Amino acid sequence: MIVVNFKIYEETFGDKSLELARICQEISRKTKIKIIPAVSALDALRIRTELGMEVWLQNVDEVFEGAKSGAVSPLQAQSLGISGTLINHSENRKKPGTIKKMFKNWPKDFKSMLCLSSLGQTESWAKNIKPEFIAYEPKSLIGSKEKSVATEKPEVIKKIVEKYPKIPVFVGAGIHSVKDVEMSLKLGAKGILISSYIVKNKNPKERLEELARCF
Ligand code: G3P
Repeated sequence: MIVVNFKIYEETFGDKSLELARICQEISRKTKIKIIPAVSALDALRIRTELGMEVWLQNVDEVFEGAKSGAVSPLQAQSLGISGTLINHSENRKKPGTIKKMFKNWPKDFKSMLCLSSLGQTESWAKNIKPEFIAYEPKSLIGSKEKSVATEKPEVIKKIVEKYPKIPVFVGAGIHSVKDVEMSLKLGAKGILISSYIVKNKNPKERLEELARCF
């Protein structure tokens, strides 16, 4: 499975987010590999409605319903047919106590991919946490064109996979080649979380198909 994080890159503004999501859908159908776009809250409903595909958010807030202005609610997202979300991404961190509180009342069947940036977190506050997915993403490698989590942190990937035998572990940060994906899978990752190599590529369709064919 591949989660493509659109972030808020200019390449995903306006109709371009729909076009990129359409590419995710087309390559997923062609390769039979699940490819989920994690998109801006401003784009999710349109993509869901127009393409009928599974779509995730990049973040949700801790107040799920009520007198809270400007929040992005997982409950409201779910009511609109949005299937899940990243949570605690390096670029949108939450306090461990907040994350734990959120998971206590998490909407049933709303998918959660908890982002962790170090092995230390798996041995402290994230030790007994139970999201549907874990994504290991060392912040320093996010956006890198030369180095990736697969080539730079193979031992950490292996250890995190071992820490969560019952939770699929994904990896991300700097993934930019077939080799990176193959290495990640060999180390026990069940999927990848990727952004710039796809979103900012002049040929995202070709690149995404190449990576999907590694699974
Ligand atoms: O959420 C995925 C993202 O943080 C990784 O970014 O550009 O290194 O693929 P990138």
